[in-house]
Amino acid sequence: MTTNLFQEYALNDSITLKNKILMAPLTRCMADDELIPTQAVVDYYARRADAGLIITEATIIRPDGQGYPNTPGLYTSAQIEGWQKVTDAVHAKEGKIFAQLWHTGRVAHPHFFGGDVLAPSALAVEGSVPRMRELVYQVPKAATQDDIKQLVKDYAQAAANAVDAGFDGIEIHGANGYLIDQFLHHASNQRADNYGETPENMSRFALDVVDAIINRIGNDKTALRVSPGAYFNLEGDIKDKDVFDYLLPELEKRNLAFLHIGIFDDAMEFDYLGGSASSYVRANYNNTLVGVGSFSAETGSQAITEDKFDLLAIGRPFIANPDYVEKVKTNSDLVTYSDEMLTELI
Ligand SMILES: Cc1cc2nc3c(=O)[nH]c(=O)nc-3n(C[C@H](O)[C@H](O)[C@H](O)COP(=O)(O)O)c2cc1C
Repeated sequence: MTTNLFQEYALNDSITLKNKILMAPLTRCMADDELIPTQAVVDYYARRADAGLIITEATIIRPDGQGYPNTPGLYTSAQIEGWQKVTDAVHAKEGKIFAQLWHTGRVAHPHFFGGDVLAPSALAVEGSVPRMRELVYQVPKAATQDDIKQLVKDYAQAAANAVDAGFDGIEIHGANGYLIDQFLHHASNQRADNYGETPENMSRFALDVVDAIINRIGNDKTALRVSPGAYFNLEGDIKDKDVFDYLLPELEKRNLAFLHIGIFDDAMEFDYLGGSASSYVRANYNNTLVGVGSFSAETGSQAITEDKFDLLAIGRPFIANPDYVEKVKTNSDLVTYSDEMLTELI
């Protein structure tokens, strides 16, 4: 019933996945206080090496990208060495692993780094840091042209660091209401310069980052996650569709390793997209698409059969079942995920 998940899939000439099940990026807040992955993190990823591809938890490109405690980084040599242990362990088990590169933008909090919170516009996100409710989100500083140039450089450097750390590639986190996504939605981008107002301008930062990374590490190793349907840290706007109508064909020209939807439940429909985020992207983007969001192996396999997307990312079930792939293959019972499982790396 799920046999199509166990077929190989070539992302391009240099990377072939042994199956179509990806481990979705899952923030676990388990790095040490220098934001270095620990041995427990190494073991956690190694246990999941039979996924076709592991995408790591979101990993910050520089200190002011941090919005949650103990999320790992990829900007110090100690962090790079820490990740090298992870990639070695995954490769020793013939797995493949991409690092997810992250800057939280206005969802950052100075508690973690001390300094300005940078975002496209001086528009705060409502609320406070989860489980640290005293840390109320602040009104960010609107990034200057120089700030933007430096951010793009820092994304490219983090991508180069990822390759140095032995990663097979990177996924740019352009989803879920974080920095890149903040440029792509009207609720968080009210700039009047060449990074705001029009679809082309609002797409510019995302494309600058993509192009800088491709220049540094190559398109074969570069992937992107996007959320055309705003659902987290952001309000959607009917005009957002025009931005993605422009962005998606531009991305298609770049021949990325894949494009990945950022969503928790793919059944969610967005009026302004005319359906689910994945159906909208599928209709506007013709290269490899990764679907995700409350799928089981069976429903995900069915979606691939129906050509809704090419590869399936699995999140929460992978937290509960390190041996998810083997269990699906042998039709064994899965452990049900619960939020209490987040306190421990199994
Ligand atoms: C605990 C937790 C942490 C997550 N961390 C990230 C993350 O770091 N980066 C990201 O892009 N998505 C993150 N997500 C979203 C997942 O990648 C995925 O899209 C979502 O869980 C839906 O897939 P699922 O139904 O298979 O769990 C996270 C989700 C959960 C539950």
